[in-house]
Amino acid sequence: MGFPPGVRFLASLSLRFLIGPFIAYCILTICDNYLDSPLSSMGRGFLLVFSTPILVAILLVYKDTRNFLAARAMGATLPPYVGDWTPGSILFLKQQAKTSKNGYITDNFAISNRNTFIIRILFQNRIVTREPEQMKTLLATDFDRYEKGEEVRDILQPFIGEGVFAADGDLWKFHRTMTRPFFTRDRISDFDNFDRHATQAMERLKERFRQGYPVNLQDMAARFTLDSATEFLFGYDVHSLSSTIPYPYYESQQLSASSTDSSQRFANALAGAQIAILQRARFADIWPIFEMKKDNLLPHLKEVHSLIDPIVRQAIQDKRQRVANHGGSKVEEETLLQHLVNSTEDPTMLRDEIMSLLLAGRDTTASLISFVVYMLAEHPPIMHRLRTEILSRVGSSQRPSYEDIRDMKFLRAVLNETLRLYPPVPYNLRMSKVGSLWPGADPEANPFYVPAKTRILVSVISMHRRKDLWGPDADEFDPDRFLDERLHKYLTPRPFIFLPFNAGPRICLGQQAKLYIFAYNEASFFLVRLLQNFSGISLALDAQPPETCAPALWAGSAGRKGKEKLRPRAHLTMYLEGGLWVNMKEANPDDEV
Ligand code: HEM
Ligand SMILES: *[C@@H]1O[C@H](CO)[C@@H](O)[C@H](O)[C@H]1NC(C)=O
Ligand SMILES: *[C@@H]1O[C@H](CO)[C@@H](O)[C@H](O)[C@H]1NC(C)=O
Repeated sequence: MGFPPGVRFLASLSLRFLIGPFIAYCILTICDNYLDSPLSSMGRGFLLVFSTPILVAILLVYKDTRNFLAARAMGATLPPYVGDWTPGSILFLKQQAKTSKNGYITDNFAISNRNTFIIRILFQNRIVTREPEQMKTLLATDFDRYEKGEEVRDILQPFIGEGVFAADGDLWKFHRTMTRPFFTRDRISDFDNFDRHATQAMERLKERFRQGYPVNLQDMAARFTLDSATEFLFGYDVHSLSSTIPYPYYESQQLSASSTDSSQRFANALAGAQIAILQRARFADIWPIFEMKKDNLLPHLKEVHSLIDPIVRQAIQDKRQRVANHGGSKVEEETLLQHLVNSTEDPTMLRDEIMSLLLAGRDTTASLISFVVYMLAEHPPIMHRLRTEILSRVGSSQRPSYEDIRDMKFLRAVLNETLRLYPPVPYNLRMSKVGSLWPGADPEANPFYVPAKTRILVSVISMHRRKDLWGPDADEFDPDRFLDERLHKYLTPRPFIFLPFNAGPRICLGQQAKLYIFAYNEASFFLVRLLQNFSGISLALDAQPPETCAPALWAGSAGRKGKEKLRPRAHLTMYLEGGLWVNMKEANPDDEV
């Protein structure tokens, strides 16, 4: 349809707003015809004007009563409500809009000290949880009672269609079955891929540092993962590491000639599409009213598709060619696309799947790398210890092997500790299909009742920072907690307190692998090369664009908020606002330990 999203939305909404007045009109007609004393004109006016709010209120009371009774019948209670007295919790929304500029990523939990609650915004209930036993029920044991649901699909659909990341039910199963085998085998070629791109990243870093400038490491990590992912997915590296990297904001006018090569356009379009999608996610159901004049997503999508579509067409053609030449034998599977094309030749399905994997695998890994470097810059002793482990295992120039990465215990602990405090996917959205029960706050408490068709927000990040689950030092960045007695005290008995990759049937595909964990390896490769080449990292706070350093009013706050120098934020994934500007000290190639 040619109309902008906002116009379509208002058209459908106005129909709904007519229901109230229509019912009121019917009531008035009946009164006029069958009652002796018709309503006064004031009564009529009142009924017509307030018909919609009255209808909404009746529906709400009806739903609440129904849920309350359903919960009681099952010996359960509804999670407690938080919110305010205004219709639709407008005060809360206003407050959120005000604090969102200077708010901290976990502030949404500051409104309640409970681990499970219902928040009602714009007349929609949403259950929020940071309780491991409930996540276990939701994601694993009672998996079939929940789905990603319309909300997630509406947001992601234009971007990844019905790809594995957004689909539900049989379609999801189909996608998962089609894609999974590719991840369960050992492919050394990925290491060549990682190493080539890590090497190029190191060269770019050195170049820029030698010019005397700091570098935005978050941008560099995003280029590294984009080039690695595109090569892995469709065998075509978009060369984002080859185009100009950004200078600090105070230089950008003179130096950052806006590059218009195709890789930069592709990277920009991907970023633009994600921003447009997040804008929509932020406003939930009412996002179309912010796109009255035009569709903010479409131009970016066109750009992205113009690069992907020819690649997909080529892969289909290659396969047909091969089958014709070799009489039915399968195409050799170097890339994920070659793997998929053996299951389907539907170009839209192939594109959706490729886009799903690009979305799922690229920013998450870049986020992990960025936050590790942020933490290393903030904790020099940990940086030193990690570098010592790397140099003693692989030396200052050797390429790490699979075994090297597996055996570097401190490296894995650093990665895990970063995934704990800054999980790249901090929140997860689900929807209940049917009325269900969740374990209560403690084993003795009543279970919670989750009504059918309820939106659920899982806050992994808030769970990862709970002191009652992780110990009194939960706010500290301390990789040793994955190595010393704290591991056995906290994590081993309750594995669901740590869910950076989700759990259950929808666990991350990049994490699920035989003897081979894609996401860890990719991040590890970059970090090993980085610490071989550089011996010191420090934040370049003066190069952060103004307003992207942690605001002064955070200082002294409880939790990690009081410790931040930068501003972590989340759209689909976590990132640092304004980037991660750092200075690094080049290592002496003869460095030994
Ligand atoms: C540090 C890196 C990564 C993190 C923290 C991460 C985290 C996650 C999480 C939390 C989910 C579940 C999302 C949800 O249920 O809504 C997920 C799903 C997924 N991830 Fe990852 N991921 C990472 C890297 C990767 C990589 C490298 C790939 C592939 C190349 C990948 C492929 C996928 C796919 C395909 C799914 C969807 C699975 C499904 O719905 O069945 N991820 N990931
Ligand atoms: C730095 O990284 C490059 C490329 O990954 C590697 O060849 C080199 O040996 C590393 N170490 C030093 C000290 O340059
Ligand atoms: C880090 O987490 C991964 C995945 O949960 C696990 O396989 C690994 O053993 C952990 N590493 C450490 C050092 O705890």
